[in-house]
Amino acid sequence: MRFTVVTLFAGMFEQVLSTSVLGKARAAGLVEIDFVNPRDFATDKHRSVDDSPYGGGPGMVMKCDSLVAAIETAGKSSSPHRVLLSPVGKTLTHSRAVALAKMDHIVVVCGRYEGVDERVVDMGIDESLSIGDYVLTGGELGAMVIIDAVARFVPGVLGHADSADDESFSGGLLEHPQYTRPAEFRGQAVPATLLSGNHAKIDAWRREQSLSRTAMHRPELIRQDTVLTQALAARTYVLLAHHPVLDRNGETVTTSVTNFDIHDIARSCATYGVAGYFPVSPVRLQREKIARIIEIWQREIAQAGSDDRGQALSTVAVSESISSAIETIRRRTKAEPWVVTTSAQAAPGGLHVGYSELVAQRVADGSRPLVLVLGTGWGLHSGILAGADQQLAPIRGTGDFNHLSVRSAASSILDRLFGQ
Ligand SMILES: C[S@@+](CC[C@H](N)C(=O)[O-])C[C@H]1O[C@@H](n2cnc3c(N)ncnc32)[C@H](O)[C@@H]1O
Repeated sequence: MRFTVVTLFAGMFEQVLSTSVLGKARAAGLVEIDFVNPRDFATDKHRSVDDSPYGGGPGMVMKCDSLVAAIETAGKSSSPHRVLLSPVGKTLTHSRAVALAKMDHIVVVCGRYEGVDERVVDMGIDESLSIGDYVLTGGELGAMVIIDAVARFVPGVLGHADSADDESFSGGLLEHPQYTRPAEFRGQAVPATLLSGNHAKIDAWRREQSLSRTAMHRPELIRQDTVLTQALAARTYVLLAHHPVLDRNGETVTTSVTNFDIHDIARSCATYGVAGYFPVSPVRLQREKIARIIEIWQREIAQAGSDDRGQALSTVAVSESISSAIETIRRRTKAEPWVVTTSAQAAPGGLHVGYSELVAQRVADGSRPLVLVLGTGWGLHSGILAGADQQLAPIRGTGDFNHLSVRSAASSILDRLFGQ
């Protein structure tokens, strides 16, 4: 694979690109790196490559003529992929590095000063890439980052055939902790599993560590993993409590069942792959009403020939209390449910869990069912909030008003947790 770097400062690269893995890859002919200097294409007597910006403002801008000529020269003998280092570009990721490693020739263009004339981008660049949300004084360090990150995926560059497949981001997660000799250092021992010689156990330990580290440091990576998120949704249950909830005066009451709460939340649960939906009421007549609502909807749906919506209602199971619903889930899953309440108000002391954090923590914690408790009326009684394992952060829109109907809140919550 070949990289041609278009830069005013080729001298910055030599040490970095001739050391260790990259140095060996170049010596073995696996990676070729050459340079083109835009100054060699300057046309005026001062060999200038920059000029002041039209419209005014500080600094200088790299001129079109010399830079475009340099990029054209860099790609003369092939049809390379031309990458500009720019804070405006998409951020380089693991998957982009893997894709770039499949190309034969990449021209890497380094900006300087205030950046490059936009017509260079229009005429001579296939892709702008950033290396992070900060501004460097020039593209050279970014070019070295790209070359290093991409070259690792060129076959033969890394000594051990699969070492690039077994690192942070390669499976969507951060890597597990690593240890080497000695087995004990200043009283700190290497985890016993790693010394056990039992490879199944070691793999399980590493997977567990990788999940919990990712949950702690980069929860959004777990949230973005469709397989992990779907598996969590499939062991998630939604409870809709009609008691004990508050009325507008803060009194504990039992609310009556609303037809649409049964139907719409069941459909949201089916949409996000949730395992079950439990409307809860201590009043027998209200529970019968729920059963009747389901029956009527199912009959109407069957008559209309729409099986899918009937299927959504089949996950509904009526319960007489929050604790009996949780007990049903416990028996059904043979595991201890993790109970998370929801509220329009922030938890005392701001001790609520965010959406990505909840997904990440529950995925990392193994196979326990997740129970989301929603309240009707003016929200769940404080005893229910206090007795739960966690409280979910309130949904916020753009201002202070966040009085959603419980069925709207249910769909927003499910989307924030499981939506792709
Ligand atoms: C001082 S910067 C120009 C910043 C530009 N005026 C802006 O605000 O977007 C000069 C050059 O450094 C490189 N550069 C700076 N920060 C970068 C980053 N985060 N990723 C990639 N390249 C960067 C680019 O090649 C850029 O043209």
